[in-house]
Amino acid sequence: CGKKEEAPAPAPVASAPAPAPAKVYVVGTDAAYAPFESQNEKGEIVGFDIEVVQAIAKKAGFEVKFVNTPWEGIFNALGQGDRDLVVSAVTITEERKGTMDFSAPYFDAQQLIAVKETSKVSKFADLKKLKVGVQTGTTGDEAVTKLQGKTSTNIKRFESTPLALKELEAGGVDAVVADNGVVIHYVANNPGGKFKTVADKEFVPEQYGIAVKKGNTELLEKINKGLADIKADGTYDQIFTKYFGA
Ligand code: ARG
Repeated sequence: CGKKEEAPAPAPVASAPAPAPAKVYVVGTDAAYAPFESQNEKGEIVGFDIEVVQAIAKKAGFEVKFVNTPWEGIFNALGQGDRDLVVSAVTITEERKGTMDFSAPYFDAQQLIAVKETSKVSKFADLKKLKVGVQTGTTGDEAVTKLQGKTSTNIKRFESTPLALKELEAGGVDAVVADNGVVIHYVANNPGGKFKTVADKEFVPEQYGIAVKKGNTELLEKINKGLADIKADGTYDQIFTKYFGA
C-alpha cells in the first residue's frame, strides 16, 4: 500500500506564546464562622481565612474560588475532589491527619465557653451535667463529648456555631463551647444576648491548618511556600492586625 506523504508541519507563527492560564482551585469553607469566614450583605465570602488564602494564592501564582460548604460535608467534599482545599478554621488533629493533609499551622486557637452573664459556670468541669451546645463534629464537640461521655443526652449538636449561640440566647442550652476567636467575636457583636465568656486552661491548644486531599503534595507545597512568603513579607501580619488588632 502506498504511503501518503505527511503534510508538512505549518510554519511556526512568530508570536509570544499565550501564558498558561492560572489554575483555579476550588476552596471549601463553612462561611458561618466570623471572623474567619462569613458572608457579607452582598453574599460574598469574607474573613481572615479568606484573605490568608487569597494572599497565599497570589504569591504562589494560582487562583481560588471560594464555595460555601456545610461543615458536616466539608471533608468528604475534599476527599471526593469536589474541593481542592478547605480553609475553615480547621484544627489540625491527629485523627484528621489520617484522612487529609494539612499545611503548616497558620493560627493558634483554643476552646472557649460562652454562657449568660448570670451563669455560675466558672470552669469547663462545671459543664459536666449542663446542657451544652456545640457545632457537630468540631473540636468543641470532641471536648464536651469527652467531658460528658459519648452517651450524654445533654450535648446539643448544631450544624453551625451561630445556631448554637442563638440557642444559648434563647435559653435552650446553658453553655456553648467553640473556638475562642468565634466566641469572642459573637459575644462582642451581640450585646443584647447578655453573654460572657469563660476560659479554662484545661482546653488543649489548637492550631488551624489549610487542608488538602491526602497525597496532594503538589498543592500542599505551593500553599506552604505561599504561607511562608506572606509571613516573611508582612502580609500575614497585616491581615492578622486587620481582624484581631495588634
Ligand atoms: N476549629 C474547630 C474544628 O476544627 C471548629 C472549626 C469550625 N469551622 C467552621 N468554619 N465552622 O473542629
